Amino acid sequence: MDIKEKPIGVFDSGIGGLTVLKEILKALPYENTVYLGDTARVPYGIRSPETVLRYSFENTRFLISKNIKLLVIACNTSSAISLDSIKEAVNIPVIGVIEPGARAAVKATRNKIIGVIGTEATIKSNSYAKAIKKLDEKISVIELACPLFVPLVEEGWTDGMIASLITEKYLGSFKNTNIDTIVLGCTHYPLLKKVISDVMGPKVILIDSAIETASEIKNILKTSGLERNKEGSTFREFFVTDSVEKFKNIGEKFLGEKINNIEKIQLGG
Ligand code: DGL
Repeated sequence: MDIKEKPIGVFDSGIGGLTVLKEILKALPYENTVYLGDTARVPYGIRSPETVLRYSFENTRFLISKNIKLLVIACNTSSAISLDSIKEAVNIPVIGVIEPGARAAVKATRNKIIGVIGTEATIKSNSYAKAIKKLDEKISVIELACPLFVPLVEEGWTDGMIASLITEKYLGSFKNTNIDTIVLGCTHYPLLKKVISDVMGPKVILIDSAIETASEIKNILKTSGLERNKEGSTFREFFVTDSVEKFKNIGEKFLGEKINNIEKIQLGG
């Protein structure tokens, strides 16, 4: 098989990574893709680093068996904990969502005060703060875990009173700081962009790691001669570890298009 024809592999703890796949498909519409959502074991954000690492390796092994040319770790929690180990273990390019998001935030901030929101595991790992400081050590980073955001989005409550109250409660503490940029450091948070922006005001820039990651993938494929730029038919495959039906219903909202070709698999013996 011509290496350009090989698919891009994307994994996430569940449905949320479809926000990343969506941006990849926008930036690279001719690429073949294989998506794995570990829906039986979501959420990763409340688990220990050892468990997240083990799950991430199982996901990686599965996607490698699908003959992928590049691996995208769409889950912020997995990226925060397992990116370096996975990079070392495989011989294809591996891209996580933390560094692209950090880079975009550093570019965007004017006053060098950045807020980062994510799951408990992502925030505990300090990965965003480390990635931002590596680029500019003068930047102050204020990190905040927002654990209720994931179930809120999964429930479909991305606007309205409940979403506003929870957002206000979490981000109220950011209002007394001079944060001018916030990194949406979780797959689900781009769906809360509007309510977050309403709470923080229009002057605060929201960084969507998914968009930044997609443009980084495009660059890597281009510079390494791996980009598939042929028009015509492409394949999109989806694998889940729990209900196909549920993934299809909620997933289509995340991806913004119909999802076919979903297969249930088992991971982790
Ligand atoms: N995909 C996860 C992330 O981006 C959110 C859901 C979870 O906790 O597994 O951190």
